[in-house]
Formats: sequence, C-alpha cells, structure tokens
Amino acid sequence: MERWRRSAGVRVQAAAVAAVSVAMAVAVGSLAFVLFLQRSQLHEVDASLTQQAQTLAAVVRQAGSEDIELPAQLGTTSTQQVVGADGTVLASSTDLRGHRALAADPGPGRSTRVRAHLGPDADYRVLALGAKDARGNPVTIVVAQSLEPAEASRHEAFVLLAIGGPLLVVMVGLVTWWVAGRALQPVEAMRRQVDGIDAASLASRVPLPPARDEVHLLGGTLNRMLDRLESAVRAQRQFVSDASHELRSPLAVLRTNVEVAAAHPEKTDWPATAAVLLEETQRVERLVADLLLLANADERGLPMRRVDVDLDDLLGAEAERIRATTGLAVVARISPVRVQGDHDRLARVLRNLVDNAARHARGTVTMSVRSTGKAAVVEIADDGEGIAEPDRERVFERFVRLDDSRSRQQGGTGLGLAIVRQLVEAHGGSVAFVEASVVRLTLPQ
Ligand SMILES: Nc1ncnc2c1ncn2[C@@H]1O[C@H](COP(=O)(O)OP(=O)(O)O)[C@@H](O)[C@H]1O
Ligand SMILES: [Mg+2]
Repeated sequence: MERWRRSAGVRVQAAAVAAVSVAMAVAVGSLAFVLFLQRSQLHEVDASLTQQAQTLAAVVRQAGSEDIELPAQLGTTSTQQVVGADGTVLASSTDLRGHRALAADPGPGRSTRVRAHLGPDADYRVLALGAKDARGNPVTIVVAQSLEPAEASRHEAFVLLAIGGPLLVVMVGLVTWWVAGRALQPVEAMRRQVDGIDAASLASRVPLPPARDEVHLLGGTLNRMLDRLESAVRAQRQFVSDASHELRSPLAVLRTNVEVAAAHPEKTDWPATAAVLLEETQRVERLVADLLLLANADERGLPMRRVDVDLDDLLGAEAERIRATTGLAVVARISPVRVQGDHDRLARVLRNLVDNAARHARGTVTMSVRSTGKAAVVEIADDGEGIAEPDRERVFERFVRLDDSRSRQQGGTGLGLAIVRQLVEAHGGSVAFVEASVVRLTLPQ
C-alpha cells in the first residue's frame, strides 16, 4: 500500500480513493435495496394470499363440502385447494387438479405459510388456513401464489444495479481524475517554470493562480525563495567582481615595476624596487587573506575557539602599538573586563577598529572598555572628520571605502569593517558608529 502510494501520482490516488469509496457505498446500498425489495414483495404476496384464503373460507362455510365448485370470481390465476380433515383434496382450482395437498392442516383458526415447488422451476408461496364448512367439518383452505413475477422484477433490479453501479464507479473515478488534474494544473505550471530557472535566469518568477488557496501560498513561498536566491547570487557576483578589481591594481604595480626593472637592469634602483614589490605583495597577501576569511564565513560560518579573553589586555596592547608606531596621543580608559570568545579574532576586531581610528585621527585616539554587567562595551574614538550619518551603516559593507584615492594608496581594502562585523556577530555581539567618529562594540558576557 505504501509502495503504491509512493509510485502512483496524486491524480491516480484521488481517483482510486473516490472510486473505491463509491464502489463500497454502491455495493452496500444495492444489497440493502435488494433485501428490502424481497421483504416487501413477500409481504405483498402474503397479504394477497390471506385475502384469497379468507374469501375462499367464506365460500366454503356457505357451501356443502361434497359438491363445491370453486367460483369463477376468485380469478383464473388463483391456485387453490380445499382439503378435508383426512388429508384428501376436496376441491381445487384447475391448475392443481389431481395434485395432492400442498400443505398440512394448521389446526382450526390458525394458518401457516410455506414455500413449495410446483413444476420444474416455479417457486410458490403457500398459505394454509384452518376453517370449517357449512356442516361444521374442519377443512383446510390452501391458497398459493407464484413467486416468479417477484423474482423476475428482483432480477431486473439486480441487473440494472450490476450494470449501473460499476458504470457509476468508473464515472466517479474519471471525473475525480479530471478534477484533480485541473486542480494540479497551476502546480504543474510552477514546476515547469522552476525547472527552467538557472543561475542565469534567476529573475523569473512562478505564475500565481488567481484563487487564494494553498497552491497560491506555495507559489508565493517559491517566489520569495527565488528573491532570496537572486539577491544572494547578485551579492556573490558583486563580491567576485569587486575582489578581482581590488587584486588588479597591486598586480599591475608589481608587473610594471618588474617590467621596467627587467628592461633597464643597469638603471634600476634594486633596493627601492624590492621595497615596492614587497609592499605590493604584502598588500595582495592581506587582501587574499581577508577574502578567504569572508568566503569561509559565508560558506560555513566561523568556527570559534572560545576561551576567556581579557579585553583590557587586548586594548592595552593596541594602545601601546599606536603609541609606538605613530605620533598620535592615545587616551585609554581601561578597566578589567573578561568575555568568552576567540582570542585571535577579538584581537583582530580591535586592531581593525584602532587602525581606522589612527588613520583618520588628527592628533588623538581615545579608547575605553567597561562592563555593564551583562555586556562588555568597547568604544574607540578619534578626533578626525568622522563619518557622515548616511554612511555609518554602509561602511560595514564589503569593499565600501569613503576615503579619497590618497588614503586608498595607504592600503585600505574596504574589507576591514566588514570583517569586524562578521567576527563580532559570530560572537553574538554588535558593532556600530554611535557618533561620527565613535565606534561602539558590544559583546555579551
Ligand atoms: N574612524 C573613522 N573615521 C572616519 N572614517 C572611517 C573611520 N573608520 C572607517 N571609516 C571609513 O569607513 C571605510 C571602511 O572602513 P574599512 O572597512 O576599515 O576599510 P578600509 O580601512 O580598508 O578603508 C573607510 O574607508 C573609511 O572611509
Ligand atoms: Mg580599515
């Protein structure tokens, strides 16, 4: 049954279920009808026999038993006998002339009903009634009626049901099959449409049936899924194209330098060329590492090695680094704060934010870390121009840089904040610019 359900289509299943249900109903109904017909026919025959017997009994009561001629008004089709107390047939209708008694004496005033065979296949219902003749002698009135007409009409009904029933079943099956097919048409249209969709034609959508039913809902769900797929694919393409674009410029610098040096080896300042090549190579290396990190995060999320991390230590180290490598003043307000997280990745987050601040600062970088009890809050600020309100969210997108070409030359790829957000969210935290040049990082504790 399960195997059949899996292999047969919905249409066939619906048609089969409908047909079987109707077949069962028709079978039960037909049987009940035939039984009811049989009972009511017998009832009718018995009523008619009782009447005949009573009429005949009345005639016998008035006549002398010896010379009874059955009166013509009882009808030529009637099959009747008058039987004496000793079992001899005293009188009978023409069709029973010479026949022995059809039924035994039921006793005075009582009656019995039996079935009898008269002739090869004529089934009769026989009624015997105990009565008395004019002289008070007990006689048995026997009347019989053929069951043949009743059986014939029952047979007719049976034949009609036997032909009509299966016909009805087949019709119901076919109609159900057709209706189910019509109901499934929109599904088939959707299937065909989705079948034709590939990465190149993600813009198309499935047709929605006008009726607001389950199929309509399914279509809506499919279309929303296609929306998501399309924007994911578009983002992916954008990412690849941006990444290629970013890789091109350092590679071009490398190539030009190598070409010039190779063409004029004697005029080349080799240490200077080596320095340029090294710098550009490092740039490519950083970029590729960043791209790889983001690609991995997209693909399967970032695996975290969670340990206790002292944010105050990490931020203190950053403050020292900026003091040592730049001429900027650093104001650090640091209290001990510990979170659970991946040590190297949290260090990376702070480094990216502090680097941005240092790059945009005029003279001072301010950093602080504190705990609210539930969360650790790190704020890094600088005294530079900051970011205008409309760009504060956008800078967290990949490859978004607001800097002019001069600072672009300094090595920013526009991936720094995108990586920060990815890593912070992987820790269950959040990061945003709360003011033009104040970025706030919140990590749960
Ligand atoms: N503290 C800051 N002050 C002003 N602008 C900033 C600051 N931090 C980030 N930005 C802007 O956000 C952009 C994106 O930053 P980021 O993702 O780190 O990329 P990158 O540092 O490689 O340029 C930067 O190009 C810069 O324009
Ligand atoms: Mg940066």
